Amino acid sequence: MNREDFPMLNGDVIYFDNGATSLKPLSVIKKMDEYYTKYTSNIHRGDYDAAQKTNHEYDETREVVRDFINAEDKDEIVFTKGSTEALNLVAFGFLKKHLKEGDEILVNKGEHASNLLPYLVLQKEIGIVVKYIPLNENYEVTVENVLNSITEKTKALAIAHISNVIGDVRPITEIGEICKEKGIYYIVDESQAVGHTVVDAKRDNISFLAFSGHKMLGPTGVGVLYGKKELLEETDPLLYGGGMNQFFEEDGSYELKSVPTKFEGGTPPIAEVLGLKEAIKYINNVGIEKIHKHEIELKRYLIENLEKIDNIILYNKKSDSGIIVFNIDKVFSQDTSIYLNHYKIAIRAGNHCAKMLKDEMNIRNTCRVSLHLYNTKEEIDRLIEVLKNSEDIFKIVL
Ligand SMILES: Cc1ncc(COP(=O)(O)O)c(C=O)c1O
Repeated sequence: MNREDFPMLNGDVIYFDNGATSLKPLSVIKKMDEYYTKYTSNIHRGDYDAAQKTNHEYDETREVVRDFINAEDKDEIVFTKGSTEALNLVAFGFLKKHLKEGDEILVNKGEHASNLLPYLVLQKEIGIVVKYIPLNENYEVTVENVLNSITEKTKALAIAHISNVIGDVRPITEIGEICKEKGIYYIVDESQAVGHTVVDAKRDNISFLAFSGHKMLGPTGVGVLYGKKELLEETDPLLYGGGMNQFFEEDGSYELKSVPTKFEGGTPPIAEVLGLKEAIKYINNVGIEKIHKHEIELKRYLIENLEKIDNIILYNKKSDSGIIVFNIDKVFSQDTSIYLNHYKIAIRAGNHCAKMLKDEMNIRNTCRVSLHLYNTKEEIDRLIEVLKNSEDIFKIVL
């Protein structure tokens, strides 16, 4: 779909590493170019025309994001560097203040480092308890296991909507209902979901939500933290400096600006924020349902064909996302990735930043194909053909 919009596809590369970062459409690249060539200026500082234009473009993006994720108020949208910064802001700006020794945060072993490591640091720093929701036999999080893990001490639950390792889609709406009923702060990492399926802050009763622009057809260096307004008001910034303060005095007094400006100290990634707006417009124009349907069709086609190859081990046949993980039997995943690169096929090999899951699955590394709207059946046919002929793999890799 829409391949002509993506300049990276003009070459001969088959790009299957969208879980790491997606390709960018020309409209996103042009928007950033427009800012640099036509109205470069800082935001919220200048009175001249270019500065007014930049202010307008930047502030408008907040409303576009609000609408995209169905938040209540545009002031609930904070621009960050990406998911990692957004989740750290929740941990160190909010949880650190609101949780105390012995309070429990529920996570699971399939989470990305960004949605686990900050809580382990808090465990060490202030004595909260990081508790793991058991995964089922397919390494999935179930509502039943969530319910069984909650105790009176559970104060927060952090989970990715879609796992970057095995691509399972978590029951986040149902978990949101449980968290609402039990008064648990609900933190959802939408990094692998945004741009692939509907992200909805209100429907899912989410307290805080994070995503990165670069995985959803947008630029690197920009992401979003959504937080319910009353919770953001109770959150401390990670960065102090220009743009986020009302005043500061010699006597040590100071006052910060209101939400969300107090979180955006210093010059923000202006071109990137504008690029993010364009990425959202692009996704909205194509239609999120259409993108999702296309990816699921491709995923089924890929699984069907991978299953026909004798020495392929598939780990997540059932998941309802465009992420497929496999290995060639007795071949180290990175060797497979190097072999595929020889045929200009880009995939990801490794533990995908979820270092705990590898012990649970009893495998150290996997190959991950992650799809997006511009991938095609012809590309999958080529991947299958190359995998079928993998008897020459070690001639190529070594
Ligand atoms: C599920 C998940 N969460 C968080 C992140 C971190 O995103 P970023 O590196 O853009 O901050 C990633 C990146 O791979 C991810 O897949």
